Amino acid sequence: MKKITAFIFVVIVLSLFSLGGNNLQKSTDEIISERVDSVLSLMTLEDKIGQLNQLSFGIGWGPEVKISVPDEYKELIRQGKIGSFLNAIGAEFTYELQKVAVEESPLKIPLIFGLDVIHGFKTIFPVPLGEAATWQPEIVEMSAHYQALEAASAGIHWTFSPMVDIARDPRWGRIMEGSGEDTYLGSLMAAARVRGYQENLSDLNIIACAKHYAAYGGAEGGRDYNTVDISERTLRDVYLPPFKAAVNAGVNTLMASFNEIGGVPSSGSKYLLKDILRDQWGFKGFVVSDWNSIGELINHGFAADLKQAGQLSLNAGLDMDMESRSYITHLKDLVEDDKVDEDLIDESVKRILRIKFMLGLFDDPYRYCNKEREQKNIGTEEIRIAALEVAKRSMVLLKNEKNILPLKKNYKKIAVIGPLANSKTNPLGGWSALGDSVDVSTVVEGFKKYVDKKTQILYSEGCKIDDNSTKGFKDAVNNAKKSDIIILCLGESRDMSGEACSRSTLDLPGIQEGLAKELLKTGKPIVTVLMNGRPLSINWLNENVSAIVEAWFPGVTAGDAIAKVLFGDYNPSGKLPATFPRNVGQVPIYYNHKNTGRPGDLKTHYTSKYLDLPLTPLYPFGYGLSYTTFNFDNLTLSSTKITADDSLTVSVAVKNTGDYDGEEVVQLYVQDLVGSVTRPVKELKGFKKIMLKRGEDKTVQFTIHEKDLKFTAADMKFKSEPGIFKVFVGNNSVDVLEAQFELIE
Ligand code: NOJ
Repeated sequence: MKKITAFIFVVIVLSLFSLGGNNLQKSTDEIISERVDSVLSLMTLEDKIGQLNQLSFGIGWGPEVKISVPDEYKELIRQGKIGSFLNAIGAEFTYELQKVAVEESPLKIPLIFGLDVIHGFKTIFPVPLGEAATWQPEIVEMSAHYQALEAASAGIHWTFSPMVDIARDPRWGRIMEGSGEDTYLGSLMAAARVRGYQENLSDLNIIACAKHYAAYGGAEGGRDYNTVDISERTLRDVYLPPFKAAVNAGVNTLMASFNEIGGVPSSGSKYLLKDILRDQWGFKGFVVSDWNSIGELINHGFAADLKQAGQLSLNAGLDMDMESRSYITHLKDLVEDDKVDEDLIDESVKRILRIKFMLGLFDDPYRYCNKEREQKNIGTEEIRIAALEVAKRSMVLLKNEKNILPLKKNYKKIAVIGPLANSKTNPLGGWSALGDSVDVSTVVEGFKKYVDKKTQILYSEGCKIDDNSTKGFKDAVNNAKKSDIIILCLGESRDMSGEACSRSTLDLPGIQEGLAKELLKTGKPIVTVLMNGRPLSINWLNENVSAIVEAWFPGVTAGDAIAKVLFGDYNPSGKLPATFPRNVGQVPIYYNHKNTGRPGDLKTHYTSKYLDLPLTPLYPFGYGLSYTTFNFDNLTLSSTKITADDSLTVSVAVKNTGDYDGEEVVQLYVQDLVGSVTRPVKELKGFKKIMLKRGEDKTVQFTIHEKDLKFTAADMKFKSEPGIFKVFVGNNSVDVLEAQFELIE
């Protein structure tokens, strides 16, 4: 009886505050807050704590996973002890759960369903690092939009994406999930993904989650979950800006990271969760923990037990507990013991309810659970075409000796060799939600589809990705000998990057380089296609094969995209979002490093360098070739001085000097020569991707404002300092033209 009365009351209150009628003069925000308050006023402490609890179905991955609702979960929903699930997928399945929540739980509050939709739900797009290599935020936004459409049609309200962690260490397997090493590029990509997922929040969008807050990518030794110990300045200038960009773009949630920073784990950090996020940035959404990251405060040695862990996290400002069950088990006692103030719980509950309102779940809890829509919107041709477009644009041409690429259409026999040549699963990459290997086009398939009947494709696996057997070499060499050219597909398996997938070497795994060496002996030209989730050290390939294309893990359209790029149907335009080291010993190696007191100089002994390596990386940040060539000339500045009130225009003439139409990414870097603290040797401040027809030229312009020159100065204020600045413009972070200007007071 009590329950029914409460429900009727909720309905009356909600209809009073519905979004139409008399409320036209109120903003949507105000109306939602009133509705949230009205629900909160009905809630017991237990009801409130229930909203903060998130559990997983732990269903694993892949299309064949079958799910059913465990009785335990139904019972918890009935008791109002769950606010959200992760990994509950499908219109029908989420409907079944939602029905229990809105018909049988005490206050009928709808559940919110989250999932890791990282680079696709069913139609898998390139991994995020590959998407970042497009240097086209608008393309990345489109990708997120389609990912959201598919997920929203399968009952999902919320993705745990984008991952906006800056990664300067490619040993860290999660570099694959982000946008690489640069703060500026990473911030643009973060905002683009947030816009793409959320748009206007109709039932065809989902809410985004910027993760892992914060500095998770700074793990010592590139080992996942490891300690992070960085300066406050590096935190603010390098790691936080992409989160800030996501917040400015309207991201509705953030995920607290597993790591500590300088002794304080993020999941218990009031400094991160309250002072910076709420007080400085004005974030209004909610923060979810990472999986059991509240419980892990015990392992960190930050909490004695799960109860204290919950106390620390809730008090720090962590709203929702993913999977540790600390909140649901201990918060009530913590309130009764005066260890946690109920007002703080109210704040967290309000943030979560607000988003449930924004998603329209109070008006129609089933609006995302529509079977027909699920069938209609998932895996459509339109989405596959979009995935193909992104995949083509994500590929980076690393080498192209004697213009062996694009491939000629008149080859009689092409050998397509290697453990990634006909793999149906690996091109999906890690975190591929319901991506299905059946939908993947392999390189062999892509080539067969692409070439005409006169060309024969000869396939050999050659070797496995990660064992040392040379048994397959013979067949590969035979096929190579019979062919005009070898397309050699090497790289990593999809489970070598992503969570808990750190590697201590960046070399090609297994015997793959050995296979390449055998094939080289045939004297046939080798075009290497790489599929991998991180920068690799590929010196031998760089020195010996004719061409190299970095394809990352391209998703379901892998083979089609690779064929189109290799045959010149699409002229590659991708640029590296992370530096490729010569070997793992150079790591961390990133373009925006400091100069040091003794900048590296191979001729001078007491300088900052390795005795046994050149100073430079194998391929620098921003690097990538095209089938055509571009000439950069005539770098001019509109003025040699600027003040805080005006701006400066940087112009450069770019000409397509080669034989094909093509796109180039014109990159602008700045160096602040002297500061109250040391400044990086270069910082990306702008880029433009332009299309130039063969022979065409264009003047590209950038504007520099005083605000672009700000950093965390000696007094910890974010500001610019007067002085001389260098400006660099080029098509990667090394090959640049140079000019300079002065910022005056
Ligand atoms: C742990 C990962 O760190 C995080 O990125 C992911 O969103 C959650 N698990 C949920 O799967």
